[in-house]
Amino acid sequence: MNIRVVNGPNLALLGKREPGIYGQETLDDILEAVRLRAKPLGVTIEAFQSDIEGELVRYIGQSRGAANGLLINAGAYTHTSIAIRDAISASGLACVEVHLSNVHAREPFRRHSFMSDVCVGQVVGFGGYGYQLALDAIVWHLRTRMEKKADKHG
Ligand code: DQA
Repeated sequence: MNIRVVNGPNLALLGKREPGIYGQETLDDILEAVRLRAKPLGVTIEAFQSDIEGELVRYIGQSRGAANGLLINAGAYTHTSIAIRDAISASGLACVEVHLSNVHAREPFRRHSFMSDVCVGQVVGFGGYGYQLALDAIVWHLRTRMEKKADKHG
């Protein structure tokens, strides 16, 4: 099973960027922890970060057929980008939305996500650890779905 972890604008600055909100861990620290957790689950991780909306759209689109699922923190594009939402939907892949901060407890404009309804679920407010929770959640989702499919076909 291959899971792609997609990070949007300003997330390359994690560790330096508003640590009181986003924590001390860098994006590399977070991804290393995700890879460690993925190993015993038999899951491989590929990661991509971009500050550019179109690059995120392209990467998500190219994930169709190349990955089993997506973890996405689209940063501020979460609240603005119909293009990223459409890319997730067009990929046909299960996706878990991740945010380090609890977006529901911040400014009102962060409460709306264009992608929540095309995602399996959302993990918010647990800092970098949320990526590990999201990994567990997507693996559980995909395996449960697979078992259900296997059941159906006897
Ligand atoms: C964020 C929340 C967004 O509102 C913000 O624009 C980010 C980070 C988070 O992980 O908490 O860049 O996605």
